[in-house]
Amino acid sequence: MNLATPYLGLPLHSPFVVGASPFCDDVYVARKLQDAGAAAVTMRSLFEEQFGLTIWHAPKSAAGYPEFADYQLGPERYLVQLADLKKTLSIPFIASLNGSHPGSWISFAQRLENAGADAIELNLYQVITDPTVAADQVEKEMIAAVDALTGSVHIPIAVKLSPFHPSIAQLAVALELAGASGLVLFNRFYQPDIDLEEIKVQPQLQLSNSDELLLRLRWLAILSPLLRGSLAVTGGVHTAADTVKALLTGAHAVQLVSVLLKHGPGVISTLRHGLEKWMDGHNFSAIEQFRGRLNLARCPDAAAFERANYIRVLQSRKV
Ligand SMILES: Cc1cc2nc3c(=O)[nH]c(=O)nc-3n(C[C@H](O)[C@H](O)[C@H](O)COP(=O)(O)O)c2cc1C
Repeated sequence: MNLATPYLGLPLHSPFVVGASPFCDDVYVARKLQDAGAAAVTMRSLFEEQFGLTIWHAPKSAAGYPEFADYQLGPERYLVQLADLKKTLSIPFIASLNGSHPGSWISFAQRLENAGADAIELNLYQVITDPTVAADQVEKEMIAAVDALTGSVHIPIAVKLSPFHPSIAQLAVALELAGASGLVLFNRFYQPDIDLEEIKVQPQLQLSNSDELLLRLRWLAILSPLLRGSLAVTGGVHTAADTVKALLTGAHAVQLVSVLLKHGPGVISTLRHGLEKWMDGHNFSAIEQFRGRLNLARCPDAAAFERANYIRVLQSRKV
C-alpha cells in the first residue's frame, strides 16, 4: 500500500504529520514519534513578540504578555534545538513562526533555514479588536508578511490560517501568489471561559475532538481545486476515518496534536492501519487515486452548491 504524499514539495512517506506543539522540545520524544510512523514533525512557534517588537514597550501588566524568560524556547535556544533535531531525525521537520506584522522575526527565517529546517510554517493568528482596522487592511498585512518571508528564504513556507476571514478563497489564492507553498487549515481559537465563583476570566486549553474537523473538510473541498500548492488539515483529526475524509476533500497531510497528547505516539500506527484497511476495502493502492475525490472541482457553481446544501439541511428538520 502506497501512503506516500507530497507536502510543500517534500516527499512524505505518509500523510501523518505532527502539528506545531511542544513535542519537538525534546529530541528523544521527536525520535519516538518518528519511530512510531510520523512522516514529518512541526516545532512549537516562535512569536514575533519574542523578537523585541514594539509590544514589549507596552506596559506588561496591561498587555498580560509572558515575561521573556517564560517562553519555553527563546530564538537562540530554538536554533540549537533545530540543529539537534537535524542530527537525530531522518524525516523532514518544520520550524514555526507566529507573526503577521513587519519586524525582525522575518529575517530570523534565514537562520532557521541555515540551521536545517526543511520548511517553515507561518501562523497568522491574531484577534483584531481595534474598530478602526478594516478586514482588507488585516489581510494586506498578512499577504505582505508572507511575501517578505517567502522572499527571504529558499525553503517552502506553509501558512496556518484562521477560518474567520470574509473571503477565504480569495485570501488563499493571494497567499499562494505571494509565495506560500501550502496552507494549513485552520488555527483553533483558544477561547477562555469564565469562572463564576471568582468572577474572572479563566484561560484554558481544551484538546480538540473530531467535530472540529467538519469546518476544515468544507474548506478543503472548496480550496483544493483552486490552489496549486499543498493543503494540510489541523484541528480534529483523531481517527483513521477523519484522515480518509480529509484526503477525500483534498488534504495532502493531516496534522496531529490532541490525539497524540491523549493517546501517545502509538496512535499513529492505529491511524495508519485504519487508512490502509479503508484503502484496501475500496481497491485503492495509493493516496493519489482518491485524494480530492470529494472536492468541488466538478461543481460548476460552488457557492450555489453550498447554499443549496444549507437550505436542504434546514428544510429536512421537522417538528
Ligand atoms: C499544547 C499545545 C501547544 C501548541 N503550540 C502551538 C504552537 O506553538 N504553534 C502553533 O501554530 N500551534 C500550536 N498548537 C496548535 C496545534 O498545532 C493544532 O493546530 C491544534 O491543536 C489543533 O490540532 P489538534 O486537533 O490535532 O489538536 C498547540 C496546541 C497544543 C494543544
